[in-house]
Amino acid sequence: MRAAAATVAEDDLPRLPKGFLMSGRTSLTIVLAAGEGTRMRSSMPKVLHPVAGQSLLAHVLSAAPKGVGTALAVVIGPNHQAVDDEAKRYRPDAQTFVQQDRKGTAHAVLAARQALARGADDLIIAFGDTPLISATTFERLRAPLKQGATLAVLGFRAADPTGYGRLLVENGRLTAIREQADASPAERDVTLCNAGVMAFDGRTALSILEKIGHANSKGEYYLTDAVTIVRDLGLEAVVIETSEDEVRGINTKAQLAEAESVMQARLRKAAMEAGVTLIAPETVFLAADTTFGKDVTIEPFVVIGPGVSIADGAVIHSFSHIAQASIGKKASVGPYARLRPGTSLGEGARIGNFVETKAATLEAGVKVNHLSYVGDAHVGANANLGAGTITCNYDGFSKHKTEIGSNAFVGTNSSLVAPVKIGNGAYIGSGSVITRDVPDDAMAVERNQQNNREGGAVRYRELKTRGKTPKGG
Ligand code: UD1
Ligand code: CA
Repeated sequence: MRAAAATVAEDDLPRLPKGFLMSGRTSLTIVLAAGEGTRMRSSMPKVLHPVAGQSLLAHVLSAAPKGVGTALAVVIGPNHQAVDDEAKRYRPDAQTFVQQDRKGTAHAVLAARQALARGADDLIIAFGDTPLISATTFERLRAPLKQGATLAVLGFRAADPTGYGRLLVENGRLTAIREQADASPAERDVTLCNAGVMAFDGRTALSILEKIGHANSKGEYYLTDAVTIVRDLGLEAVVIETSEDEVRGINTKAQLAEAESVMQARLRKAAMEAGVTLIAPETVFLAADTTFGKDVTIEPFVVIGPGVSIADGAVIHSFSHIAQASIGKKASVGPYARLRPGTSLGEGARIGNFVETKAATLEAGVKVNHLSYVGDAHVGANANLGAGTITCNYDGFSKHKTEIGSNAFVGTNSSLVAPVKIGNGAYIGSGSVITRDVPDDAMAVERNQQNNREGGAVRYRELKTRGKTPKGG
């Protein structure tokens, strides 16, 4: 009912752009991601390479305008189903378009013609390989359009401008973007460069894009030619400047590593601002989606992969590796722990050194303090798994589940051969190989009788040394 009322209110104001009530102006963002990225020397499409545990494309899609009045299109290469899937995973509202032949950035934008034809107040073009761009920058770029500019181009001062399009500015107005290959020696000295991100007034965007030709040294349709067309129409193109760090394009593995380092610095800073204690921040690796409660401490040399949440008061000790895991309040992990996907630790749970967990729920107060593997398992509250406890979850063909009841005690060096259930409060004798379910409060010992032979050691030594001169004698 409420949604219907909102639509009526908007329809009552026909002269205002659709979406005006919520966001001011509507937008269409087109993300170009059709490149193979040959310089990555990888069989994976470039935009799927990760930075902080998330693909380059996902970073751009998260920063692009979202919500009411926004539309998103991603231009992908032929046979890039994986890119298509990734786009829709992060932005289910995304529409993807295949650019069959790579004929340049303007040609790529026009692959999304169908989305363009629907119209939007602002048309934003972004590249799928610039993962450090922020949502604020997209907003800054859109601002001049409100003031009447036809085109806003994101620029930056390049430490080394080689390879970038140069922004040519006359009397404060952007007159052209010159690609490296087409630039004169004087133009090559210009350090103000094109980041690749642009925002067009949506009313004229399509007609401008259609005017772009391919009379240049590469014979490609250059999006950058839009600037001269705008100027020739007597319309205004402007530059919005940002830092080089934010618009680093990724073409090589070395640049991927640089972007990782910039992103990690940002994530560490944000974590500390949110109250996380990082003793040696430069040694801690976070993922873009890591979430923290209050008073979390992370010791030096910890790697956190995607999908990790760490609740209030938890401590992650040194040299731990964690991915797709949820860590409960006041839990303690490591040192030297490996929490693999599907791990969930309850409040106050303790995972000690050289313990590996996978697809395992460990309820509140569970202790697994040393040298264990807990996989495909559920462990009830306050159970204690002794050193060397192994859940034997795999028989070489399929995985099986181990269930351990609350307050159970599993003696050291026990093998729990799944599928198997250990009851609440049950007690497993050290060294047991448990293959049958153990009832609640039962004691299970699976172990051969011990045989002590009186004087046996003496007789054994005599046997071994008979006829030999003792060493050192
Ligand atoms: C482009 C800009 C340059 C700018 C630089 C910033 C043009 C003509 N040049 O150059 O001014 O300084 O980015 O990094 O726009 N793509 C497609 N289909 C194509 C061609 C490209 O989808 O046919 C995509 C690529 O996958 C990439 C982006 O567009 O995500 C940029 O293409 P790229 O070839 O890297 O352009 P540059 O030569 O770096
Ligand atoms: Ca590039």
